[in-house]
Amino acid sequence: MPASSPLIFVTRPIPADALDGLRRLGRVQVSPQDAPIPRAELLAGVAQADALVCMLTDRIDAEVLAVAPQLKVVANFAVGTNNLDLAALGARGIAVGNTPGVLAEATAELAIGLLIDVMRGISSGDRLLRREGFPGWGPLYRLGAGLQGKQLGIVGLGQIGQATARLARAFGMRIVYHQRRRAAAEVETALEASYSSLNALLSGSDAVSLHCPLNEQSRGLIGAQALARFKPGAVLINTARGEVVDEGALVQALRQGSLGGAGLDVFEREPELHAGLADLDNVVLVPHLGSATVETRAAMGRLVVANVAAGLNGAPLPNAVKTL
Ligand code: DGY
Repeated sequence: MPASSPLIFVTRPIPADALDGLRRLGRVQVSPQDAPIPRAELLAGVAQADALVCMLTDRIDAEVLAVAPQLKVVANFAVGTNNLDLAALGARGIAVGNTPGVLAEATAELAIGLLIDVMRGISSGDRLLRREGFPGWGPLYRLGAGLQGKQLGIVGLGQIGQATARLARAFGMRIVYHQRRRAAAEVETALEASYSSLNALLSGSDAVSLHCPLNEQSRGLIGAQALARFKPGAVLINTARGEVVDEGALVQALRQGSLGGAGLDVFEREPELHAGLADLDNVVLVPHLGSATVETRAAMGRLVVANVAAGLNGAPLPNAVKTL
């Protein structure tokens, strides 16, 4: 690529096909460490960049934009955009893209996996067996709860919430959902999902799965008050963003036994775990694996390349995020 071609800065290695796609668009500089990029390196990296490919762990705000005078497009390698200061990006007229749709099934699979794990005691059974051995089958030994006929409350019926609802229906669960705006009638009909207030959803569901974006309305949504409304013994699944849940209040509810269990893929101060969380046996913890399949990460890479290509050409991004 000639030195005059656009510079694309990538904050962390992404799948090779995506990097090849970016190399067809311009000069590509990739931060070499497979770890969140240190702030100073990010600030240095964007200085000459025309396009930025960033991760959900990179805060892209006014400080970054101030040192990136040529930046035309930011392509987030994620569907969530809570790491981006959209107002600052909009004020600069920088195009912003994300990766919606392609990670819905993978994230839904993980949500259902966590749900089955918590309700049937798979991980806790595995831990017990390794620690203490298997005393043999017993009619009353380690009874979990089945999914069939139970109510799943879905908070946020976007693409991931809908995919989760479809899978849960296959296990015979009833779907109730809550979000700010009621879904289209066709969506409700296809999923046999009923709209509910948040409070009624929390108090009536056997399991609650979070699929809302992180924003000022959803930050801390599941705190002590909300947890007190849960049906006794209900299960909480979070594959959305950690900050939607007040983890201190969650640990307390789990310790007291008012909540039956939790399956968490995301954490309030990721990658840290709240004190006490890892000591609880009724919790399954996985390290933000929602979209972590080979197929999904490849598909996310393709969307990132398409967003960068459009942004460098001054064309509308195929997966544009509203900035203002
Ligand atoms: C996203 O894309 O926002 C997911 O959290 C990545 O796993």
